[in-house]
Amino acid sequence: MRRRLVAGNWKMHGSRASIQALLGSILAGLGDAGGAECAVCVPYPYLQLVAERLKGTRIAWGAQNVSEHAQGAYTGEVSAAMLAELGCKYALVGHSERRQLYGETDAQVAAKFAAAHGAGLTPILCVGETLAERDAGRTDEVVARQLDAVLAKCGKEAVAKSVVAYEPVWAIGTGRTASPGQAQAVHAFARKRLAPATRILYGGSVKPDNAAAIFAMADVDGGLIGGASLAAEDFLAILRGAGSAG
Ligand code: 13P
Repeated sequence: MRRRLVAGNWKMHGSRASIQALLGSILAGLGDAGGAECAVCVPYPYLQLVAERLKGTRIAWGAQNVSEHAQGAYTGEVSAAMLAELGCKYALVGHSERRQLYGETDAQVAAKFAAAHGAGLTPILCVGETLAERDAGRTDEVVARQLDAVLAKCGKEAVAKSVVAYEPVWAIGTGRTASPGQAQAVHAFARKRLAPATRILYGGSVKPDNAAAIFAMADVDGGLIGGASLAAEDFLAILRGAGSAG
């Protein structure tokens, strides 16, 4: 049985004050939020704050990106060892915004995955097709290519110890969610390439009113939540949806 995980990706949002308030509200409501695992991936400058606030709670924390390099002259980059030192459990790797806006390639994403895994972090590997790729019938091919780059470099076992997130680019921040059936189809396709124990999250406009139906799909093991993770009530409702489904 794969344990469900609901991870918030706060992207480039928040301030010290808003994050203190958000964490306070999430922690206050966590008792009724079911048994799914929970994590938040926060901007680098807030990792220390989040680590102090969440230590000893059941919410894990992580970063939204990580360097593929161990150390050196890479101005502005943050290594996996630095994140591990801050108590990060997770690091997002290959989010579509990184791929699209910052030109991260499959090879670079695989190197980032290897760096994170090697430092003892749990990478959350994001994959997913654009709308043009879906409309061209290329969804499976794109997801396979993105997964295979990491599988070839790191192997199935490393990926099984990590987390994969299927996030169709056309569903991110658009309010247009993949239907439960569309998500399940891609998850089932991805799972064929992965070890059976690999957790595969769905991400893309997950909200309280659609979460339970998506999480009820056989190959959906939880969610990666953007906008709705910035509102404590919505995030808690999605967590409850993960706890009740399946
Ligand atoms: P939204 O939930 O805002 O669509 O974002 C999804 C996402 O990109 C999570 O990583």
